[in-house]
Parts: sequence; structure tokens; C-alpha cells
Amino acid sequence: MSILSKHKFIETNASLLLVLSFLVVTIGGLVQIVPLFYLENTIEKVEGMRPYSPLELTGRDIYVREGCYVCHSQMIRPMRDEVERYGHYSLAAESMYDHPHQWGSKRTGPDLARVGGRYSDDWHIDHLRDPQSVVPESIMPKYGFLERTFLEPDHIADLLKTHAFVGVPYTDEMIEAAAADFRAQADPDSDYDDMLERYPGAQVRNFDGQPGISEADALIAYLQMLGTLVDFSTFTPDANR
Ligand code: HEC
Repeated sequence: MSILSKHKFIETNASLLLVLSFLVVTIGGLVQIVPLFYLENTIEKVEGMRPYSPLELTGRDIYVREGCYVCHSQMIRPMRDEVERYGHYSLAAESMYDHPHQWGSKRTGPDLARVGGRYSDDWHIDHLRDPQSVVPESIMPKYGFLERTFLEPDHIADLLKTHAFVGVPYTDEMIEAAAADFRAQADPDSDYDDMLERYPGAQVRNFDGQPGISEADALIAYLQMLGTLVDFSTFTPDANR
């Protein structure tokens, strides 16, 4: 019997084909999955990554609530055109504190993984209020209500606790200071040194330029942080992986 006719024998015996297919898929699956059990961590640790500050985390919640991920991804693939347009490809560690992750599956608008620092706060305010005023051909909806909706950090400690529950390393101290840190980041006249110690590199500003802390403050604090935590001028991929 030649190899081909042996195969014909398998293909014409449904039960045998089923058993052998199952065997092949099982072996293939094991080869892929088992090594993962022996890795301590599949995410390479990267300097600079920290849990989101209370204000950034609130902004992230607004981002999720408004469905920004429906049109925007936060995942730069390691392909030349993407890296040239958006910057260094995304690292797993950069979304390690995202629950749920915001990789997205559709780009109606550009990827936002490294949008932090690309535009001024004023630009973001104008763009959120009326995207077509800064990018005439934009099809992004208007989000002017965000700057008219004000926030009190009543539930911010609970939000941090929930994220701690799913594995984000928020300490008791961070949870206790959550409301104060929330206010401090949006007020450049506040005493924000402790907040900066807990969240190195957090940007302290009145993001929307008006009194009070609005949803726009939180969202812009989040957007301006995206992609800025890891310093790619000093980053070298772990050679052991
Ligand atoms: C219906 C799809 C859609 C939704 C929903 C949407 N956007 Fe956009 N967004 C776009 C498009 C298209 C552009 C490119 C044109 C422009 O700049 O307005 C864009 C551009 C942007 C930019 C500028 C990015 C760059 O690199 O130039 C930012 C920042 C942004 N959006 C943030 C948001 C945020 C935050 C939300 C949620 C509150 C949101 N978008 C919701 C479609 C969308």
C-alpha cells in the first residue's frame, strides 16, 4: 500500500479519521500550551510601567463607557508601516494593568496606544468638543458633554480596590489616598508630591482649563499618559526570550 492509498483508507473511514484527527489536534495543542505552564510569567517586565493614577483610571473608565475602543485600537503591531506611523510596537507589559484590555479590533480612527503628548490639551478639548473643527473630514462623534459633566471622587477608592482584586498592585496606601490623589493631579496648585511618588511620571495639570474636575479632565489625563510610561530611548528587549 502506498502512502496515498493508506491515506485514502483513513479518509474513507469516518471513525478512524475522527480518532486520528483528534490525536493530531491534541498533540498540537499540548505542544503549544504545555510550555506556558513552565513559564513564571509570559509578560516581560518593563521599566516605567505602573498602575494608572486615580484620575487616569477614571478617564479610562470614560473611554470604555463611551466606546472609544469601537473605533480606536491601542495595539501597535510590529510591522514597519505601523511602527513608522505610531512609534515603537506595543509591548505586552504596556497593557498588563488594563482590565479589560483596550487592544480593540477596529481602526475607524487611528491607533491611540502612543497618542500621549502628541497633541496639546487644548487640541484635545477642541477635538472632543467638535472633531470636525480640527480635522474637517473626521467622522468622530462630538463629546462636548464631557467638559460639562463634573466628577466627585466618591467611588474612586472602590474602583482601585476592584482593580487590586483582579491583580493590579494597588497598595492600601494608594487606595486610602485615592480621592486626594484624584484631586491633586488635576490641580497644579495642590500638594501633589505624594501623588507623584505613588504614580511616577503622572502629569499634573488642569487639563480642560476650567475650574472643577470634569470628565474631560479625566479622559485627557488618560489620553496624555498613553504610551508615555515606557522610555523607549533606553528600552532593550529581553534577549532571553
Ligand atoms: C465613530 C468612530 C469614532 C469614535 C466612536 C471615536 N473616534 Fe476618535 N477618531 C475617529 C476618527 C475617524 C479619527 C481621525 C480623524 C480625527 O482626528 O478626528 C479620530 C481621531 C481621534 C484622536 C486623534 C488621534 C491621532 O493620532 O490623530 C483621538 C485622540 C481620539 N480620536 C480620541 C477618541 C476618544 C477619546 C473617543 C471616545 C470618547 C473617540 N475618539 C471615539 C473616530 C472615532
